[in-house]
Amino acid sequence: MKIISSIEELRDQLSGQLRTSFVPTMGNLHEGHLSLMRLARKHGDPVVASIFVNRLQFGPGEDFEKYPRTFQADVEKLEKEGVYVLFAPTEKDLYPEPQEFRIRPPEDLGNTLEGEFRPGFFTGVTTVVMKLFACVQPRVAVFGKKDYQQLMIIRNMSRQFALPTEIIAAETYRAEDGLALSSRNMYLSAPERAEAPALYRALNFVASEMRAGHLDIYQLEHQAMDELAKRGWNPDYISIRKRIDLQPPSAGDLAQGTPLVVLAAAKLGGTRLIDNLEI
Ligand code: PAF
Repeated sequence: MKIISSIEELRDQLSGQLRTSFVPTMGNLHEGHLSLMRLARKHGDPVVASIFVNRLQFGPGEDFEKYPRTFQADVEKLEKEGVYVLFAPTEKDLYPEPQEFRIRPPEDLGNTLEGEFRPGFFTGVTTVVMKLFACVQPRVAVFGKKDYQQLMIIRNMSRQFALPTEIIAAETYRAEDGLALSSRNMYLSAPERAEAPALYRALNFVASEMRAGHLDIYQLEHQAMDELAKRGWNPDYISIRKRIDLQPPSAGDLAQGTPLVVLAAAKLGGTRLIDNLEI
């Protein structure tokens, strides 16, 4: 595997490649990321991964400084997966001058759910993803469904800008007890790690109630959040949305069986976890 930090060198290395399959990451790779690499391989060749902890998507007081950086271990994992190039730019390589041009997602999609609790987060994500796409020029790029709203925003961005990059969605990779794998899980203490699957159970509770015909979504969302709060969580939201645009479903949507997803974000101690489940 070639490890490249400069944009120019990356371009030389990938010139003439028409089927590049790309997986952008912020490192601290776990099985979930590796499953994205395997899916990327099915959709193109060569597979290119990136590791870049993107300052633009962290708000003040968030965990940019302490975000786990495990570069050597990550390299070994990517080598085992047969990744062809790891693009690992420094901040100076990717942002040699202040990144004043930004991609701002539409308000409906960008300022709700995660966007409401992490202002500016999606602008940071779309800006770096657009720039990484410009560097790698992939034909396909793989994103996990665990970051459901991020996936949707990037898919819409790629479509609206007519980017030549097809966005592929990968299923969420879960531990045996249901906890979605995430780099931030490593912040959890042992008792918090034992408690953490309660978030996925809350999503399953909402989904199974909906499937059983319980359609008072306001009541369900609040019941699930109250339950988590009783267990010591600090929930930001548990919200039932339409899969198509992540807006709240109308009574008509509920009656017609419009495809839905329930999304959640909650803090357990100092760690903020997110998860979702399609209903
Ligand atoms: O999901 C992530 O790890 C990041 O948001 C991404 C897409 C690599 C952009 O920094």
